[in-house]
Amino acid sequence: MNGTNDGRSPPPGPRAGGELEDEGCAPEEAAEPRRPPIHVLEGNTLRTRLTRSLGVHYPFVSAGMAFVALPPLVIAVSEAGGVGMLGAAPEPASALRTRLRDIQAGTRRPYGVDFIIDRARQGDLTTREHVDACLEARVPVVAFHWNLPPSDWVRDLRAAGTKVWVQVGSVEAARAALALGLDGVIAQGRQAGGHNRGTTPTLKLVRELRGVVGELPLLAAGGIADGLSAARALFHGADGVWVGTRMVASVEAYAHPGYKQKLVEGDARDSDFTTLFGPEWPDQRQRVLRNRVVREWVGREDRVPGTPLDTIGATRLLPGVPDGDVPYTLPRFSAFVPTPDTTGDLEEMNLPASGASMARIESILPAGQLVVEMMEGAHRLLANPYELEADADDAERG
Ligand SMILES: Cc1cc2nc3c(=O)[nH]c(=O)nc-3n(C[C@H](O)[C@H](O)[C@H](O)COP(=O)(O)O)c2cc1C
Repeated sequence: MNGTNDGRSPPPGPRAGGELEDEGCAPEEAAEPRRPPIHVLEGNTLRTRLTRSLGVHYPFVSAGMAFVALPPLVIAVSEAGGVGMLGAAPEPASALRTRLRDIQAGTRRPYGVDFIIDRARQGDLTTREHVDACLEARVPVVAFHWNLPPSDWVRDLRAAGTKVWVQVGSVEAARAALALGLDGVIAQGRQAGGHNRGTTPTLKLVRELRGVVGELPLLAAGGIADGLSAARALFHGADGVWVGTRMVASVEAYAHPGYKQKLVEGDARDSDFTTLFGPEWPDQRQRVLRNRVVREWVGREDRVPGTPLDTIGATRLLPGVPDGDVPYTLPRFSAFVPTPDTTGDLEEMNLPASGASMARIESILPAGQLVVEMMEGAHRLLANPYELEADADDAERG
């Protein structure tokens, strides 16, 4: 695992060969430095529609998180036997192409790209060119969130062999998404960190959607951050878990170290919904960590001053791509999350997070270790699932 990785550039590893590897190790290539192997237990019984659909070892997917889920996190998760998802930030398609090349240089296992569908101040967050970049790279999975993509994007991706998933927060949204023709659905419960319109707790939503999605893989998102929460999601009908906040607090996530530390220190009651953040992409509901700016403004978002705004710090956009590292001054209430390039006061910044997940985070760990520990923990619990019925905390936490 990449304990010293800075979360920005891909670690040394096997070169892409085009073909997806099955569950075995990628073939050796002479003179290539290799990471130490991650030992997964053979004979694991966490076989689900998700593992079968993608040929992966674990029903574990790391959430595509803009700014934070860059190639090193994707590679670490996929190499550990899960599915790493790149979070597409508001970046040009050329940057996406670079990131896809970086991922393919680091793993031959299935991975994916997550896009937000919406129009922000600068224009559409995702365009046909981004989809074309995925088609060219033969990306194994593409997920969409927030609004639905045009149907021809879904059609073309699926025709090229890409699995298309959509993240939804309700039965109605799932039905609308399914009309596009999908390969999987992510159930985003109200505990989920980040952009979230959900009002239904994760496990309840999983049970509701199980009957709606039929035989398609159904992933559970929101408050899943350890073996127990993962086991519960699988027990209640999910075919896999989609994990965000826990993966921000990983070595490979491209998040500011102070932000990661706040996730370790945070607890169930330390997140809240707000539309506070986003001169760049206004009025979007998010679950965020209750830092000073959130405590001060939550519930009175309508009184947030308009532009011009003070500045709260500085960051660099487009890290790790040619002509990148573009300086950006963070306006007050900026939607951009702090990365290792960010300076300023984290108490004034947007820190997407789930309280339910923070309650389960004890330390910052390598992403591959998190995948294996959560899945092996879930495996053990599912062998004797007497306590998994309980979901009292599903309604309360977060
Ligand atoms: C820091 C952070 C950034 C996120 N960014 C995105 C994003 O860019 N696109 C997206 O579809 N979901 C995003 N999400 C939401 C996740 O997809 C997912 O719903 C959520 O993380 C699941 O709940 P959890 O945080 O308790 O694991 C983000 C979540 C977090 C915590």
